[in-house]
Amino acid sequence: MTHGSAQDSREREDRYTLNTYPKLPFALVRGEGSYIFDDAGRRYLDLYGGHAVSCLGHGHPRWVEAIAKQAAALDFYSNICYHPLRAEAAERVVRNSYPSMAGVYFCNSGAEANETALKIARKLTRRPLVVAMNEGFHGRTIGALSVTGVPKMRDAFPESLAGLTRFVDLGDMRAIEALDPRQVAAVILEPILSLAGVRLAPPEHYRALRAHCTRHGIALIFDEVQTGNGRTGKWFAGHHWGVEPDIVTTAKALAGGFPVGAVIANRWVAADVKTGDQGSTFGGGPLAVAAVAATYRILEEEGIVGAVARRSEAVLSRLRSLVGRGPVREVRGLGYLIGVECEIPAGILQARLLEEGVLVGTSNHAGTFRLLPPLTVTEEEWETFFRALEKVLSKKHLIEQP
Ligand SMILES: Cc1ncc(COP(=O)(O)O)c(C=O)c1O
Repeated sequence: MTHGSAQDSREREDRYTLNTYPKLPFALVRGEGSYIFDDAGRRYLDLYGGHAVSCLGHGHPRWVEAIAKQAAALDFYSNICYHPLRAEAAERVVRNSYPSMAGVYFCNSGAEANETALKIARKLTRRPLVVAMNEGFHGRTIGALSVTGVPKMRDAFPESLAGLTRFVDLGDMRAIEALDPRQVAAVILEPILSLAGVRLAPPEHYRALRAHCTRHGIALIFDEVQTGNGRTGKWFAGHHWGVEPDIVTTAKALAGGFPVGAVIANRWVAADVKTGDQGSTFGGGPLAVAAVAATYRILEEEGIVGAVARRSEAVLSRLRSLVGRGPVREVRGLGYLIGVECEIPAGILQARLLEEGVLVGTSNHAGTFRLLPPLTVTEEEWETFFRALEKVLSKKHLIEQP
């Protein structure tokens, strides 16, 4: 096997991997802080964070050291044995989530965390139905897909559990109240619908939802795969509204880029979870928990979550000042989960910003691009973004479709 040109290597990747992903037109080979570098040495300001994952920026020295140290000490052993870093990781995650949370189960991804949450909520309540949000996204495995409110993602897989899901619009309390609660095991939602283009409900909706679930013994599941771990300027999104779910799922930024998912459960849910109810060979392995413990240690000790809350205010208000001047229509979000709705397709803006050396995300809403940067992004780096954005928006020909 030879290692040929960059072009060769991309062709080989296309040839030998299944065709599941659309690709950006470069291969990334290195990252440092908020910057990523392609195989031609070009650097990009990463305001996408590998999809809301790289919360500490790329290659944070303390994170790298923690993983390297663990790899040298004990690469892997299963959950059949104790591990001191699992204790630390679990304690930090539980304590920083919600006061009512009792314990965490570590797995490997967001989808797997949601599968687990749905499974334990059904067992706990002995009820069949799950309420989920139109346009919500919970992952690609069959169970997680069954509660994903994006028909284009589900349509090719009609034999899912979607028949046991009742989809409602985020914020529509009446639609939830119209369902027979004795049939409903759980309500699952992203507190902020991210892929849908960053959509929130008013604070009172989350409180009403909490009250309804409590009244009827329904498990309230917050999918905080994106909103968790400090992204919104609080550790978890429910803190913004004083609302605690029964089950939290998270992944993405949880381990700073190492693949880890987690299900955090309150006392009511945790009391029903028995040995053998769930399991995973790799979940919570030594490297995974070393990465979680290091990520949380760094987030806590470097005051990163508070910094997101402070810095994001200036970013959001500067973005909002663009509304109505040029193509920016609306800016939505909390902390560093930001959707910018424009009159031009987000894919075009993404491509133009990329030419200026800035990477942003798109969304399922054609006109909305998303900012999901490392939580450590600096004011100077935001300046770089705004310079690029203003340049792109000011040149009409640059944003016209080819
Ligand atoms: C809100 C939400 N839930 C679940 C998932 C699935 O996570 P994973 O890709 O780790 O399975 C994602 C992934 O984008 C997500 O954004």
